[in-house]
Amino acid sequence: MDHKRDRIQIALVTGASSGMGRCFVRQIAEQQPFLHEIWVIARRRERLEKLSEELPETKLRLLALDLSEKASFAALAERLAQIRPCVRLLVNAAGLGHSGSVKDQDPDGISDTLDVNCRALMAVTRICLPYLERGSQIIQLASGSAFAPQPGFAVYAASKACVLSFSRALREELCPEGVCVTAVCPGPVRTEFFRTGGIALSPFKRLFLADPDKVVRRALSDAAKGRALSVYGMSMKLFRLMTGILPQGAAARLGRMLLLKK
Ligand SMILES: NC(=O)c1ccc[n+]([C@@H]2O[C@H](COP(=O)([O-])OP(=O)(O)OC[C@H]3O[C@@H](n4cnc5c(N)ncnc54)[C@H](OP(=O)(O)O)[C@@H]3O)[C@@H](O)[C@H]2O)c1
Repeated sequence: MDHKRDRIQIALVTGASSGMGRCFVRQIAEQQPFLHEIWVIARRRERLEKLSEELPETKLRLLALDLSEKASFAALAERLAQIRPCVRLLVNAAGLGHSGSVKDQDPDGISDTLDVNCRALMAVTRICLPYLERGSQIIQLASGSAFAPQPGFAVYAASKACVLSFSRALREELCPEGVCVTAVCPGPVRTEFFRTGGIALSPFKRLFLADPDKVVRRALSDAAKGRALSVYGMSMKLFRLMTGILPQGAAARLGRMLLLKK
């Protein structure tokens, strides 16, 4: 008996209550109607319920979990073990960041950033691995800030460098099994991210604000093509090229000149 055929096919998206995570859910529903369910994770259940109402043709399974809490990983693992779905697509989009120099950061804010951006992303990925099969895709939301240290946004940029490194290594581990990992590295994107993190967008960054729908469309297309990286927009492509050539110290100094007032 073919057990695989009996398993429901799902996508699982973290950070689905707003911004790019929400766009992922909408576009996956549109592009992959063969999926039986999309599992959506975020803390704000009412947002997930609204998203579900907006997509009447798609069965969303709502998991209102706080990914900074360890207990949430056990809850997700238990749900997966009960249903044993095949995860065709995993999107780790939950994330946050706070700007300001390191000495001005709240230590709890630093922990939260690392917990959600790094620990939760790795834990959710690990928990999902037994449910992936040949042809499954993993999309990890890193950031353009992963390419170079960012004075004034140091913790966030370091967390995203961690995501990028993890994703590149995981890609090599999973490649022989036919599972593809894509790290998405956008520059600033027009979402709630800045308001949530109390981040005043510099006039320099404001120049490059991207549309979340376009970034997500590009990410899904790059993942379908099996690409390791998804970088949206000419400015970010140039930034990546430049940070690939410049020594990291010089890139950090340039960041200080462009991003910090003094
Ligand atoms: N916007 C940008 O400029 C930009 C650029 C590059 C990369 N990124 C990355 O892209 C990803 C998506 O960001 P976005 O711009 O779409 O931001 P957003 O609109 O603020 O969305 C962040 C999502 O993360 C979820 N989240 C935050 N803390 C959580 C927690 N403790 N537990 C569960 N879910 C949590 C939020 O849901 P709840 O609040 O409902 O829990 C929300 O759905 C993030 O990883 C971000 O770092 C953003």
